Amino acid sequence: MGKTALVTGGTRGIGKAICLALKEAGYTVAANYAGNDEAAQAFKAETGIDVFKWSVADYDACVEGIAKVEAALGPVDILVNNAGITRDAPFHKMTPQQWNDVINTNLSGVFNMTHPLWNGMRERSFGRIVTISSINGQKGQFAQANYSAAKAGDLGFTKALAQEGARKNITVNAICPGYIATEMVMAVPEAVREQIISTIPVGRLGEADEIARCVVFLVSDEAGFITGATLTANGGQYMAS
Ligand code: CAA
Repeated sequence: MGKTALVTGGTRGIGKAICLALKEAGYTVAANYAGNDEAAQAFKAETGIDVFKWSVADYDACVEGIAKVEAALGPVDILVNNAGITRDAPFHKMTPQQWNDVINTNLSGVFNMTHPLWNGMRERSFGRIVTISSINGQKGQFAQANYSAAKAGDLGFTKALAQEGARKNITVNAICPGYIATEMVMAVPEAVREQIISTIPVGRLGEADEIARCVVFLVSDEAGFITGATLTANGGQYMAS
């Protein structure tokens, strides 16, 4: 029987590319989204992939949403924690709300989604968890104390949980994209963006597909020996060890 994958923030940006690549690779795919109904409906019409609305920042909503996905498509074998937001501000201007929003979605959201799925994966002795972290969780970024903290936290989460999943054939890995041509990066002021691109050795932003291909590899049966890893895809902008 084919495997089922659930991708959070799956209807736009990198998440959309991940959904399409997983579908193309033969998986049954469900896309979660939190807010943009119009984009979600357009995505569904274009791809035929089922969409499910809830916020990953809300644990109870995750439990309920996952139950709906599993009732419709069967047990989730593969979770891609992709949903993420930015609330950039220099620290002296950052509000508690901006801090909490980013931590709740980008870090606690990963717990909220992984925890309800974990026991099922353990019982079935198979699972693939891939969390989309960021270059800015590795190197830090001006105006992103919140985002960098959350994304670095995702890497610690990945390394800890990989140790727990290993004996149950559950791999837990992270991908650190660099600057990818998505709405999130396009929202950065143009002059700042140009300055950032000038620091990327390959001389361009990445494409969402380039991250999606990393996900397809990490969730494959062939990647069963890779766990607790951080796969960096950033055009050479930051070479983390
Ligand atoms: N390093 C050092 N100083 C910097 C800086 C940097 N990287 N960027 C800005 N500054 C300085 C500015 O020169 C300015 O200095 P002065 O006060 O001396 O003029 C000061 O910091 C900024 O002051 P502002 O009042 O202009 O700041 P602001 O409140 O308007 O905020 C900003 C502007 C939010 C920082 C905006 O410049 C911005 O969005 N920067 C980009 C941040 C970024 O890279 N975010 C990543 C988004 S994409 C993403 O997150 C996806 C991913 O995973 C990669």
